[in-house]
Amino acid sequence: MKGIILAGGKGTRLYPITKSTSKQLLPIYDKPMIYYSLSTLLLADIKEILIICMPRDLEAYQNVLGDGSRFGIRIEYALQEEARGLADAFLIGEKFIGKDSVCLALGDNIFYGNGMTGILAEAKSMLKGAVIFGYRVADPREYGVVEFDKNHHAISLEEKPQNPKSDYAIPGLYFYNNDVVEIAKQVKPSARGELEITTVNNMYLERDQLDVSILPRGIAWLDTGNPKNLLEASMFIQTIQARQNQYVGCPEEVAYRRGFITADKLKKIGEELQKTDYGKYLISIATEKKQ
Ligand code: G1P
Repeated sequence: MKGIILAGGKGTRLYPITKSTSKQLLPIYDKPMIYYSLSTLLLADIKEILIICMPRDLEAYQNVLGDGSRFGIRIEYALQEEARGLADAFLIGEKFIGKDSVCLALGDNIFYGNGMTGILAEAKSMLKGAVIFGYRVADPREYGVVEFDKNHHAISLEEKPQNPKSDYAIPGLYFYNNDVVEIAKQVKPSARGELEITTVNNMYLERDQLDVSILPRGIAWLDTGNPKNLLEASMFIQTIQARQNQYVGCPEEVAYRRGFITADKLKKIGEELQKTDYGKYLISIATEKKQ
């Protein structure tokens, strides 16, 4: 399975912060936002990843993530010239995806919680057509929304509805079989001029090939859409990390624990950053006795 992180878009809801930089490079507490979605894909055991960004930001992303060897994976880059919507990722990424299945992670979505690794493994193993997630939120109007029948089967999907039919938003993490490339080609721009991921998901629903897995309440799905959300997400991460001394969204750690990189390599990366708590943390992981 291939992975795509979409880090395009103008981030206009965060102006003026994002006037000269990509939203997904902004800090969430102590690391760039994209580290969190990268960690999610690594947790899903995905080792070939395409980062899609705007031309302005390509060099910055290459500086932050390189060719992926730091994480024992392969990272490629592709450009999205204009914010044409999420489904555009499959048109831009067609060659990269090849004949594989693919997981799309939005670079501004953060997941945290016990059981996430198992949830990702299950999504991969149950994948026939598409697997997406449902997550209960206080106000789903800003998101894709899924409605269920009494047997928890999805019966409708709507993008940013004024009057949502349920409290279940669809987070920015999607698993698809290879058909998604052809399906994305059939998507027509919505009223807001975007190729909506919800249209792709609706096409899978019509084919009866859509599975919606409900994320349990023990999982945190954080939003980074406006300055207040950004600050709250940073504070949430800071609180957990300070309390447990276990980092959230640390791709070097995930890479090490998954066996993509050795303890020696992790230690070297830590030493380059040893003035920071982040570097010290990596060194402590690399040198700890396996429990
Ligand atoms: C996008 C999707 C929406 C999804 C959300 C998750 O919204 O269109 O269905 O719920 O990501 O973050 P956008 O970021 O384009 O507003």
